[in-house]
Amino acid sequence: MTKYQFIEEELYRRQQQSHLRQLQTVIPLEGADVRIGNQKVVNFCSNDYLGLSKHPLLIKRAVEFAERYGTGATASRLICGTYDCFQSVEKKLATLKGTEAALILNSGFQANVSILPTLADRQTLILSDQLNHSSIIQGILLSRCHVLRFRHNDLAHLEELLEKNIDKGPCFNSTRARRMIVTESVFSMDGDQSDIGRLVDLARAFDAFLVVDEAHATGVLGPGGMGLCCGKGVDLTIGTFGKACGSFGAYVACSRKLRDYLVNCCAGFIYSTAMPPSVIGSIDAALDLIPGMGEERKALHAKADLLRLRLQNLGWRTGASNTQIIPVMVGGETEALALSDHLKSNGVLASAIRPPTVPEGQSRIRLALSAHHTMEHLEYLIQLFEERHFHGNH
Ligand SMILES: Cc1ncc(COP(=O)(O)O)c(C=O)c1O
Repeated sequence: MTKYQFIEEELYRRQQQSHLRQLQTVIPLEGADVRIGNQKVVNFCSNDYLGLSKHPLLIKRAVEFAERYGTGATASRLICGTYDCFQSVEKKLATLKGTEAALILNSGFQANVSILPTLADRQTLILSDQLNHSSIIQGILLSRCHVLRFRHNDLAHLEELLEKNIDKGPCFNSTRARRMIVTESVFSMDGDQSDIGRLVDLARAFDAFLVVDEAHATGVLGPGGMGLCCGKGVDLTIGTFGKACGSFGAYVACSRKLRDYLVNCCAGFIYSTAMPPSVIGSIDAALDLIPGMGEERKALHAKADLLRLRLQNLGWRTGASNTQIIPVMVGGETEALALSDHLKSNGVLASAIRPPTVPEGQSRIRLALSAHHTMEHLEYLIQLFEERHFHGNH
């Protein structure tokens, strides 16, 4: 027995169960195209929903900021001082989100794993949607709070759990007991939306803190494309800049007081080097562009509606999706992998999403649409799903 045995065993186990993941080299080309080896394929898995990652203004401003501030922020913002560009981007963001304040964090994952333990302690009850992203789950685990999962988007179930747990149980007889609801506004693997208005009402009725992750709504839905929580009275929203914003990093939008609390207490903010100025430059440019991209959003949603309908007409199930994220439900892992391979060998990159990312028996192909996809791309994709359907392979 060597000290590496557990690693070998785990990798072997994953291989046996077809769970072994491997990194695949891709070279970005024009628009939605990428190159894998010698093959050009159309990418249907990127979260670059508005196609901003290659936008000339984002690139230009990234270069400008790197030239002005250097390539690195050199330390945490509390150590060396905060560059003015971070603060102006935070102000811009807060205005767009309709909140008093905003704070930049280094990634959506880092935001969730560090903010949730900053807000929740051992006496806190967190009510978490069953389909919340792994980063939310990790953050909840780190907080060591008491957690109850409500059935996905089932707000009657959430209400029932809130009702049952009012000041109840050993964890909650303290005056410091907190209740917190944590969910997403657009779910990353299912592409469906939460009812933010009802969540806010429930949070108010039960004096619960409401935290919503807007990773997949930011840039795509809501007023000026800034998410479904804008102006709705959510206590704290988290969003990423790495998806529709075409850049990297994350934000928190909240009250001024809450921002002060995070600046003082959130380990992921305090003990991490601030983001590179070039990245702040590209975020700044994305925030200038996004509110004016109404036509691009309309076109994106129209393409998603059309694709969903055409796939459903062919007999494929697309779950409760009503956004640019379209899961094509397959069921078994092997079948999902086979379908993904079939698509790839025909020039389409669309990954199979399998357990543990999704529950057992719910493996799927996750299609993510972007402004770069043309009608020809969609027609071709539909044709591939049609062929597969008629071969009876799903
Ligand atoms: C809902 C959700 N939250 C957070 C994240 C993590 O964000 P980031 O990629 O910026 O770390 C993701 C993305 O993978 C996500 O889907």
